[in-house]
Amino acid sequence: MAGGMTSTTLILLLHLSLHTVDEGHAVNPSCSCIRFTSTHGKPRGTFSSPDYPRAYPPRVDCLLYTFVAAPHQIVELVFTTFDVYKEHLDCTHGDYLKVYSEGFHGPGPPGINEYSAWSRVLCGSRADTPPALYSHGPLLVLELHTGPKISNATGFVGNYRFIDRKNFETDGVQVPDTWCDYVFNSQPNRPTFGRLYSPRYPSSYPSNVRCTYHFNARQNERIKLVFEESFLQKGDESCLNRADIIKVFDGRLQTSPVLAMLCNEVLGYEILSTGSELLVQFTANSNSPGQGFKASYQFQMDDNSSAESDIKKSVTTEPIPGLGPAVSATTSSCHKMFRSDKSKTGKLTSPQYPAPYPQKTQCDYDFLARGRERVRLVFEDFSLQRMTENIIDCESMDALDVFLYVDGRQEKMASFCGNDIPKPIMSNGPKLSIRFRGIYSSRYSRGFKIAYSFVEDYGITTGSQLLEFPCAFVFNSSERGRGVVTSPNYPGTYPRDTECNYFFYGNDNERVHLHFSYFDVEGVLPCEAVSASDYVQFSSQMIDSESHRYCGQMKELQVTSEKNFLRITFRSNDRLDGTGFKADYLFLRDSEMHSIVMPDTDSDNAADGLKFT
Ligand SMILES: *[C@@H]1O[C@H](CO)[C@@H](O)[C@H](O)[C@H]1NC(C)=O
Ligand SMILES: *[C@@H]1O[C@H](CO)[C@@H](O)[C@H](O)[C@H]1NC(C)=O
Ligand SMILES: *[C@@H]1O[C@H](CO)[C@@H](O)[C@H](O)[C@H]1NC(C)=O
Repeated sequence: MAGGMTSTTLILLLHLSLHTVDEGHAVNPSCSCIRFTSTHGKPRGTFSSPDYPRAYPPRVDCLLYTFVAAPHQIVELVFTTFDVYKEHLDCTHGDYLKVYSEGFHGPGPPGINEYSAWSRVLCGSRADTPPALYSHGPLLVLELHTGPKISNATGFVGNYRFIDRKNFETDGVQVPDTWCDYVFNSQPNRPTFGRLYSPRYPSSYPSNVRCTYHFNARQNERIKLVFEESFLQKGDESCLNRADIIKVFDGRLQTSPVLAMLCNEVLGYEILSTGSELLVQFTANSNSPGQGFKASYQFQMDDNSSAESDIKKSVTTEPIPGLGPAVSATTSSCHKMFRSDKSKTGKLTSPQYPAPYPQKTQCDYDFLARGRERVRLVFEDFSLQRMTENIIDCESMDALDVFLYVDGRQEKMASFCGNDIPKPIMSNGPKLSIRFRGIYSSRYSRGFKIAYSFVEDYGITTGSQLLEFPCAFVFNSSERGRGVVTSPNYPGTYPRDTECNYFFYGNDNERVHLHFSYFDVEGVLPCEAVSASDYVQFSSQMIDSESHRYCGQMKELQVTSEKNFLRITFRSNDRLDGTGFKADYLFLRDSEMHSIVMPDTDSDNAADGLKFT
């Protein structure tokens, strides 16, 4: 019923808007229209609900706000305030605002018409609305309805802007006869950098699309790619369960090793190719398309100097307060850059190790991995000067600071001081930096010795790693009937922003039995995104978003698979770290099952774990 009425009003709008509608002029008694158009010479402006800032009237049948951009433009709306009484969760009754931003799909002149479907419906508060709304084409329509109930909600105020579509053009060459396939070739005397976007960006991408982006660098070049914003589907689901996904392959083909899988919402994700080719594949099959992604690329000379200057720029080098110019002399002599192309493993020691390091030492060490690699640091010796018995924080002492790159920013992940050997560290991407602040020293301060390595296996040493995922391992009963399985970088803290999957394949009639003897996954029940939880999931299916999540600390956890297949998903976010898990696994036929003793545990979770689905 409501839908039928909507079509009628929109047809009306279409006919009238082509002729005589002026700003603020009512179209008809049941559907008035306010029109904002770029051809009137105003590139931007504001709009508001009726009677704002007083409460809007009840029984507004249909009030249309029409934004008409020039053909080469799109419309951007940003609500500065939004207060529409939320009578229903899905905003389809009572008071609501419908958004039409679909382009033209039917016969007749281009625009919003009876073939248009509303793309979203809004009610509630500012927090319920997206940061900005964008049109697909040059037209965007808002349709306000209010119910019979008098609420004291005040409605909305927003800014509109007409922006040039050119700002969102992908720089590659579009492949003929494709809708969204692009090729990027590195050529002499051409810019070595550029941008790429999901289709229709910044408006939402269409459903059921697959786009590919091929990068061809020249010899001795590689490709750096940064996904600045990638808003696909909301939540923190495993990428295995996602219908909208970006896959990055470390080569020309879809059979090349997968470097990254991006789903959900990701900021500032950086990728460096191993060789001179890279393939990005964007697939969208969900029913609720997100905004999409914007990314930048750069063809980088594979020479040592350019990569180094790139890193140096991104490392903040504020001086240590209270230290004189002597520091800079020391600093410059002990700055080091470790690149995986030079050596996959090595040792890093403090100046003059194992003799005491000089006072006022400050050294920056940068690590740069490529392809599927991550940086792993294992501390072998650690002895820094401590100023007090009780270490409250390392700020005022000799210390080693570890920096990661999170959401495109450099972030301090940890500081270590004193004499305790830190646990292993792993980067969440191709870069990791550490800074040694050896201000005081003494004859007892040996400094440190670190074994560094660039690893592709995430420090997971059992199972066989798959090339089709950034981090996935197969445990096959035919090859090994029992063994150990651990989280990435175990026993160190697991890396941030990481998903690892473990697939257990038993023979017919076999099940896999897991006994977790260690479990420390940062989070609180029910281990969801709202509590910024990392989590572990168990499932008897390859794709399964329903399975129970586990997080927190558990003394013991027993899990038995339902069938001969089990998937374990481990997923960490960009905050706080745990040390993960370690479990013994064992494949057994049902007839052998009685030999397993399942001890009682004091955790409700553990009990649940026995019969997950
Ligand atoms: C708004 O209305 C609600 C109930 O309808 C009432 O409880 C509230 O006090 C009102 N707020 C204002 C600011 O009038
Ligand atoms: C990069 O470093 C390697 C190893 O030190 C060296 O052999 C090579 O010549 C360097 N390349 C450039 C372009 O400086
Ligand atoms: C498990 O190993 C056997 C024997 O090597 C092999 O035939 C089978 O394909 C493997 N299964 C999986 C799922 O990898």
